[in-house]
Amino acid sequence: MWCSSSCIFIVPFLLVLEAIAFHWHQSHMAPRYINRNASAIRYKREEEPECSYNEWRCNDGLCVRINSDCDGIIDCYDGSDETFELCRNRECDPFTFRCNYGACIDESATCNNKQQCPDESDELLPRCRGENIIEGEKMKCRDGQMIPKEQRCDGIVNCADGFDETVAACAELRCQSEQFQCEYGGCVDGQAQCNGTIECIDGSDEKVELCGRRILVRPTTEPPTTAVPRCELPKQPLNGSYSVVSETNTTQTDYVLSYTCDPGFKLVGHSTVLCIEGTWPDKMPRCVQTCQLMKHPSIVYECTEEETEKPRQCNVEEIDGTIVKTSCRKPNYYSPVELPYMHCQQGMWSSGPVCTAECGTLPPESTPLVLRGSTAKFGEVPWHVGIYLKNPKSKKHMQICGGSLISNTIVLSAAHCFWNENTQRLEDVTNYAVAVGKLYRKWYHPDDEPFAQKSDISEIVVPKLYRGVELYYKNDIAIVIASRPFEYKLYVVPVCLDFNEEFSNIQLHNGNRGKAAGFGLTTGMRGSESPVLRVINLPYENYESCLNLTSPALSRYITYDDKICAGSLDGEALCRGDSGGGLAFPSSISGQRRFYLRGIASTSPPTNDQTVCNTHALTSFTSVIKFEKFIKAYWYP
Ligand SMILES: *[C@@H]1O[C@H](CO)[C@@H](O)[C@H](O)[C@H]1NC(C)=O
Ligand SMILES: *[C@@H]1O[C@H](CO)[C@@H](O)[C@H](O)[C@H]1NC(C)=O
Ligand SMILES: *[C@@H]1O[C@H](CO)[C@@H](O)[C@H](O)[C@H]1NC(C)=O
Ligand SMILES: *[C@@H]1O[C@H](CO)[C@@H](O)[C@H](O)[C@H]1NC(C)=O
Ligand SMILES: *[C@@H]1O[C@H](CO)[C@@H](O)[C@H](O)[C@H]1NC(C)=O
Repeated sequence: MWCSSSCIFIVPFLLVLEAIAFHWHQSHMAPRYINRNASAIRYKREEEPECSYNEWRCNDGLCVRINSDCDGIIDCYDGSDETFELCRNRECDPFTFRCNYGACIDESATCNNKQQCPDESDELLPRCRGENIIEGEKMKCRDGQMIPKEQRCDGIVNCADGFDETVAACAELRCQSEQFQCEYGGCVDGQAQCNGTIECIDGSDEKVELCGRRILVRPTTEPPTTAVPRCELPKQPLNGSYSVVSETNTTQTDYVLSYTCDPGFKLVGHSTVLCIEGTWPDKMPRCVQTCQLMKHPSIVYECTEEETEKPRQCNVEEIDGTIVKTSCRKPNYYSPVELPYMHCQQGMWSSGPVCTAECGTLPPESTPLVLRGSTAKFGEVPWHVGIYLKNPKSKKHMQICGGSLISNTIVLSAAHCFWNENTQRLEDVTNYAVAVGKLYRKWYHPDDEPFAQKSDISEIVVPKLYRGVELYYKNDIAIVIASRPFEYKLYVVPVCLDFNEEFSNIQLHNGNRGKAAGFGLTTGMRGSESPVLRVINLPYENYESCLNLTSPALSRYITYDDKICAGSLDGEALCRGDSGGGLAFPSSISGQRRFYLRGIASTSPPTNDQTVCNTHALTSFTSVIKFEKFIKAYWYP
């Protein structure tokens, strides 16, 4: 790799060794750039359909966009759109730079530390390093030797270090019209093209692809036998530095350099380079600016380099020009919009994707709800949380309320579940525990065990202005924080929260049914709780019709600015023990049905004898959207 200027001497010998018959019918070459006897060529792709009018055909048959030939960008897999044979006679417009092999690129792309010409002539230009190799009538070799100007790029090596016949020395050189320009940029006699002897130092005047045959050749120039030149130390790289590791270690190596880059820059190329016989590698290491990729667990990153477009794993540090394709990590995260690509440009990412925790979805196997209050199945209300009171003596847990999981640690419930009306204060957090993924009411049930996750509570927060019954259960909402994070599983999924008013109005219209669940008292079962989670679908009622359907004595519990109503008079309702449970409405957005939490069960009127739930009444729910600020102090999407 790093020897190209000494390698070129080997080329002629190799060609002498093999004189292989060239089989046209095996060629993948289209006739278009073979300037000899095209009619004689039978080519494989003949019978295949043409590329469309705005496409260009690569040698291997691939169609690429038109104008993609000789623009410095390799579009064909086989590189056939950027070859010397194809591009060598191109004339470049003003304000473009001509790569040595013939492609035209934007003039501004030269010396910008980004290789644009496949032969790198845009970056190897001496002026990129502030050098001027022509001084008066002389040309300056790398080692300082001066040779006559005319000997620069004339197909014959004159510099002892070979520099006068390199891509770098010949960059920007245009040959006389009667001359033949070699692939590396040198100028030789026009007769030299395909006449059977190699005149260009790189053999390009006798290339098979150019001449259409393999030619027996004899070397015209002997490798120079001058004394082995010494190396000159190169300039320090931009945004980095090298140190000399060793000097004159062997007879052949003059220097060994070790490169490092400044922070925020990454080395492209080998960190150690050596100089052999006065020659540095053509491609010296470079320091390229990098972007830090702070990987978020919700996002899957896939990196591609601008040039190769092959996907690979991303590193923490990625170089300029890297493109990152992002997607949300399924099944626990999603994005309602398509995520943009991230581009690393001058040390900064062009965008930062955001994935939202998956929420409000049901596991695929759960069947549609039955409208009558019915026993739930596992996963039917995967955000439902059981809230339990611990009995310090018996060590038993008693289910007292419900709640809704909104993050892996946060449960939304009702304030009155934790409120002591006598002291007008919250009960101690250590009295409570929460469980998710459960189907059975009992704290421990063997059938629950594979799915249940349980935790103590570290904190309970209720609005400052919560006063219990004194203020008719206004502000009846509580944020309950589990001491141990829950793991999202098939039967443990948080419910969605959305505070957009328009969207809320779409979901909350009269008659639209929301899903509620609970272990509370069930219809007709006097005083006994349901042993199994029960689910009901309650129709929403707006404030007016809710008041109309509620007895005047109880209507003051439907506090106007923070409650919503749901239910009907036909024999289904939530009940004691269901308090705090969620009321969630489904919506389908880009094909995915999700449930959005709209209410938290607060109050429902008892029957006249105060013993059984009144199933012929509406339930009031704390409106979640009214507590956006309160919730967002602890929760963020
Ligand atoms: C092209 O091929 C024909 C026969 O195949 C031959 O007579 C002719 O000389 C060739 N032309 C060139 C320019 O080589
Ligand atoms: C090919 O052309 C070069 C340059 O004109 C000339 O020196 C060389 O002798 C030619 N070779 C043959 C075989 O004619
Ligand atoms: C990189 O090097 C260039 C040239 O020395 C300098 O102008 C630029 O500020 C450097 N960039 C950083 C981020 O250090
Ligand atoms: C040259 O360097 C190599 C590796 O750094 C070492 O193994 C070798 O002994 C050295 N030779 C001389 C002559 O210093
Ligand atoms: C209130 O209820 C009565 C019957 O009880 C009904 O006629 C009336 O239309 C209702 N009003 C509203 C606003 O729902």
